[in-house]
Amino acid sequence: MNASHGSGERAYSSSVARHSDRYIPNLYSRDISVYEAEYQDFIRQALMDLRGLNIPGHTLLWEASRLNGDGLLLDLGVWIGWSTRLLAERSGRRVYGFDTFEGLVEDWQVDDERLVAAGALSISEPFAQRLIEDTGVTVVDGIPSALGRDVEFIKGSTYDTLAPFLDAHPGPIALFHMDLDTYESCLHALETCKERFTVGSILVFDEYLVTNGEMRAFYEFQQKYGFDFAYRAWGLEIMEMNVAMVTDRVKRLIHQVEWFQAQRLLGDGSYVWKLWDKRFWRFWFGAPWGDIRFMLGAIGQRKSVSVEITALGRLGS
Ligand SMILES: C[S@@+](CC[C@H](N)C(=O)[O-])C[C@H]1O[C@@H](n2cnc3c(N)ncnc32)[C@H](O)[C@@H]1O
Repeated sequence: MNASHGSGERAYSSSVARHSDRYIPNLYSRDISVYEAEYQDFIRQALMDLRGLNIPGHTLLWEASRLNGDGLLLDLGVWIGWSTRLLAERSGRRVYGFDTFEGLVEDWQVDDERLVAAGALSISEPFAQRLIEDTGVTVVDGIPSALGRDVEFIKGSTYDTLAPFLDAHPGPIALFHMDLDTYESCLHALETCKERFTVGSILVFDEYLVTNGEMRAFYEFQQKYGFDFAYRAWGLEIMEMNVAMVTDRVKRLIHQVEWFQAQRLLGDGSYVWKLWDKRFWRFWFGAPWGDIRFMLGAIGQRKSVSVEITALGRLGS
C-alpha cells in the first residue's frame, strides 16, 4: 500500500488529468509552476503517492496507534500541549514536547499572500488563553501542565534546546512530529536529528502541503542525504483537536466558529478575500474528484502527511 521511492525515481501516472497536478489540493490551491522543475517533480510525485493514502482521521494519532519500534517520540511545536498529551495517550509511551511557548521564532511565509509574523501562536494570546481555560490546562512558569499524561515539555527555541536534549537522550527516533510551521525551524530540526533517524523512523509533518514550509524543508533534506522514504498517510492536522478537547458543548461550538474565522483572518485579514480568487475556483473546478471529496468538510485542515524512512542513504554518516 505504501508508495515507496528514493531520490532517483521520477515516474508519473498518465491517469492524472491534465493540469490537475498543478495546484495544491487546498483552499489556497497554490500553483506549483512558481517552483523550479525538480521541486515541481517532487510535489507532483508526492500528490500522486498521497492520493492513494488518505485517511479520515488525524495523521499523528493514526501513526501513534501503529508504533512498534523502540526509540524517542518527539513533538516539535506543541502550543498549549494537546498534540503531545494525545500522542502520549494514544501510543502509551512518553513523549517529549518542544516549544518556546512564546510563539514562532521567525516569520512564516505560508504562500504568496499569507505571512504569519514571528511571535504569533504564543500561549499568552487571548485565543490560546481561553482554550487553556476551557480544556482544563494550567500553566506553571510558562509551561502547560501534563494533565496526567506521560509527557515532558522542554521550553525554549529548538535552535537552543534540541541538540542538548538529544545529547542527554541516546537512541533512535521512533516518531518525529513536526509542527513548528516554518521552513527554517523545520529544516534545522531535521538536520539536528539526522543521526538519530533510522530505518523505520516515522516522520509526521502537520503542514506538509504548505509547499513553502515543511514540504520544502523535507525535500531539501532528502535531496541532500539521499535517503529513501515511503509516504504512509494523508489526513487531518492535529491542531484542530484543541477545540475537540473543550469539555463544555456550548463553549466548544463557539470555539469552532472562532477557529474557522481565525484560520481565514490570519495576518492582515485580506486573505479571506484573496481566497476566493481564480486559484480557489481552479482547485474546486479543476482538481480530481477524489481530492475535492477528501477536502470537503475539513475546511482546508487536511495538510498532514506521514512518511517512513526505508533506507538511510547518507543519513548518519
Ligand atoms: C501550530 S503550533 C503547534 C500546535 C500543536 N502541535 C497543536 O497541535 O496544538 C506551532 C508552535 O510552534 C512553536 N514554535 C515555532 N517555531 C519554534 C522553534 N523554533 N522553537 C520552539 N518552538 C517553536 C510556536 O511557539 C507554536 O506554539
